[in-house]
Amino acid sequence: MAHKGMNLCNVCCLLLYMISAVLAGRDFYKILGVTKSASIRDIKKAYRKLALQLHPDRNPDDPKAQDKFADLGAAYEVLSDEEKRKQYDAYGEDGLKEGHHGSHNDIFSSFFGDFGFMFGGNRQQQDRNIPRGNDIVLDLEVTLEEVYSGNFVEVVRNKPVAKEAPGKRKCNCRQEMRTTQLGPGRFQMTQEMVCDECPNVKLVNEERTLEVEIEQGVRDEMEYPFIGEGEPHIDGEPGDLRFRIKVLKHPVFERRGDDLYTNVTISLVEALVGFEMDIVHLDGHKVHIVRDKVTKPSARMWKKGEGLPNFDNINIRGSLIITFDVEFPQTQLDDQQKDGENEVHTEGSVYLNAQILLQGDTVGGCSSVIRK
Ligand SMILES: *[C@@H]1O[C@H](CO)[C@@H](O)[C@H](O)[C@H]1NC(C)=O
Repeated sequence: MAHKGMNLCNVCCLLLYMISAVLAGRDFYKILGVTKSASIRDIKKAYRKLALQLHPDRNPDDPKAQDKFADLGAAYEVLSDEEKRKQYDAYGEDGLKEGHHGSHNDIFSSFFGDFGFMFGGNRQQQDRNIPRGNDIVLDLEVTLEEVYSGNFVEVVRNKPVAKEAPGKRKCNCRQEMRTTQLGPGRFQMTQEMVCDECPNVKLVNEERTLEVEIEQGVRDEMEYPFIGEGEPHIDGEPGDLRFRIKVLKHPVFERRGDDLYTNVTISLVEALVGFEMDIVHLDGHKVHIVRDKVTKPSARMWKKGEGLPNFDNINIRGSLIITFDVEFPQTQLDDQQKDGENEVHTEGSVYLNAQILLQGDTVGGCSSVIRK
């Protein structure tokens, strides 16, 4: 009896589970591998990565590849749209209004370009006789903040697309040699233009939003290709569009490889008695620095791991290198100020240094004392 009861319970549990699974629909967060609190950037990043992995052209042996890819498209479509995401969070997939199925191809091409078959340089293997439009290279300016944290930049591309038009046109024109016999033992070779008849096409401008990922640690001059988004060719296929990264100069940080350099000006007193301060980093977090020793002008402090993430492995980070400038007083201190200094710092070698400094004749002289 007990055995039977267990079985019944198991069946019930299974049924319950199945019902709830059907009601809940697909788990879009799980499909994208992101948490419920994922930002739009996390979602785009996850989509871009998975779309490359799961594309059916890359998984010809997996019978479920189409389904997985379709799930991914649906997950992205819903979670990347604020309104749909809210509905989904509240009511699950069934809570979404009908007709939310857009074309996954459109989503895919906004990240990668027009062709699904871009993998593994297939393009080179295609028939070389097909004429191709020109490639276009566009500079994409990115800030150092974007290089540090990563970002997605939306670029609206207004692109001429070939559409069918009434009538015929000459196409695939080429030069061919023709040999004619002029008489016994006499031939003449001539070159002439031969063309085919093709359906007429016209170029119509179409707008498309492209999503360019600024990957963390991206380097100057790196290129992000969008297949088939280049110049169209009326008789063949379009060229590619490539975005070339141009990292903008930053007012505070200078990039050298994965390292960041910055200058900080401290006062003479800070140079002598030490100081504590925060440097606001590229993503807003604060880097705390403390010195309790004398800081000489142009002294450097290394902060390991506070540089830029490495492009090939973002877990590796460069260093932040802080160069200190010491601001010397522009005017001669008066006696009262000198007394004041004496009162504040009454002991230690720092005080001694200060005394030497303050009694020096010129700024140059002071500086040479401090450099020792
Ligand atoms: C820091 O100062 C040096 C010397 O004046 C200058 O060459 C360098 O560009 C400065 N770096 C930054 C990040 O401002």
